[in-house]
Amino acid sequence: MQARRAPCAGSGTAAFHRREGVLWCEDVPIPALARRFGTPLYVYSGAALAERVQAVRGAFPDAVVCYAVKANSNLTLLRRMHALGVGFDLVSGGELRRVQAAGLPTSQAVFAGVGKEPWEIEAAVAAGLLFFNVESEHELPLLAAAGRASGTPVRVALRLNPDVDAGTHAYISTGKKENKFGIALGRAGQVVDAIAREPWLQLCGYHVHLGSQLREAAPYAEAVARVAAFVDGAKQRSAGVTHYDLGGGFGIAYGQGAALDVGAVAAAVLPTLRARGWRPVVEPGRFLVGDAGILLTAVLGEKPQGGSDFLLVDAAMNDLMRPALYQAEHPIVPVVDGNGPERVVDVVGPVCETGDFLGKRRSLPNCARGDLLAVLAAGAYGASMASNYNTRRRPAEVLVDGNTAVLVRARETFEQLLANEVDPDETFVA
Ligand code: LLP
Repeated sequence: MQARRAPCAGSGTAAFHRREGVLWCEDVPIPALARRFGTPLYVYSGAALAERVQAVRGAFPDAVVCYAVKANSNLTLLRRMHALGVGFDLVSGGELRRVQAAGLPTSQAVFAGVGKEPWEIEAAVAAGLLFFNVESEHELPLLAAAGRASGTPVRVALRLNPDVDAGTHAYISTGKKENKFGIALGRAGQVVDAIAREPWLQLCGYHVHLGSQLREAAPYAEAVARVAAFVDGAKQRSAGVTHYDLGGGFGIAYGQGAALDVGAVAAAVLPTLRARGWRPVVEPGRFLVGDAGILLTAVLGEKPQGGSDFLLVDAAMNDLMRPALYQAEHPIVPVVDGNGPERVVDVVGPVCETGDFLGKRRSLPNCARGDLLAVLAAGAYGASMASNYNTRRRPAEVLVDGNTAVLVRARETFEQLLANEVDPDETFVA
């Protein structure tokens, strides 16, 4: 079905398209999902996920693809990723618990994170991973101790900070020297030496993650060139190295311009990797799930207010935080084509903050209470960053495959929200 249809305006995938003025996800009409599951509701397309995994595989045929779990950690999506042959990029013991709760192996998983706690390291060593991404020197003794306790040296990749500007929002840029991530190239030689001296650690690669939502291949090329120059600086730096993990950050269009050309990234970095016999690892999050999801919301009412006209909807900043936090612009479209004239409105939620908006200055047709809007490209960093602010229940999530939609996360109940506060039964008197 998708091949014959064009993506709806603003969407990066034909999985979301219009039929006779109505938005569909694959072979399911979106209004039917709102009736069945209520709003706000995250809707994901299985076909779109599969297409994106294929696109990454097409560009990087030899790579280990590790899905960045933080982008959307729903257990069913993790199982789907595994079924598509994808491993995992983990950044916490909690994410490891999710993969294990989903019943999935971690042999194709990497574990990054700028501050790992002993229990997280122990759990990950016990689980067995492809490797750890080390990004602070104080992790080394913890990793070595866990290796010694398990009787097997721990495989580590050193996360380098190459001081490359990824040209992205300041909050999600990670590869510049002023960022907390990775180890500066000027210090990394000493860390390689420390790893070489430690029998319970085994250096197997280098890792670089420049930031998120990159649109150009050039920063990836610059990073690999700097890492290659670093490795060439001393013989020990290449001993035992089998992998180069170029991180994630593959950007999507969000309705403006083009997504990152992953083929161009591959063309820019693979020759250097092949010349050294390093296997690529990629850690896409947003690129795999971002376009595959929408946030469905219902109109509560209109509110003309002097300076701006507001369209109040039932989803808010707690459900999708990206507009408030990064000034991110997600396309917002009516689920059913309107026939009235369009006018400019701010689409806002019910949360008690002026920063609670989903979109500003958007052209939308007149809406009545109950009309549905779709916030597009909301599959990544939407549900996974949702909170209970204003004591709101986080949205339900459904996964569509063909003409079938499955509830993959039920809407929270107020009982669940309050559970840890009702009778915690613990008092400490100093
Ligand atoms: N690898 C590492 C080490 C990362 O820190 C991240 C994301 C990724 C991979 C995946 O990046 P992606 O391919 O999804 O761009 N909440 C922000 C994005 C934060 C990204 C954090 N790290 C947002 O909503 O834009």
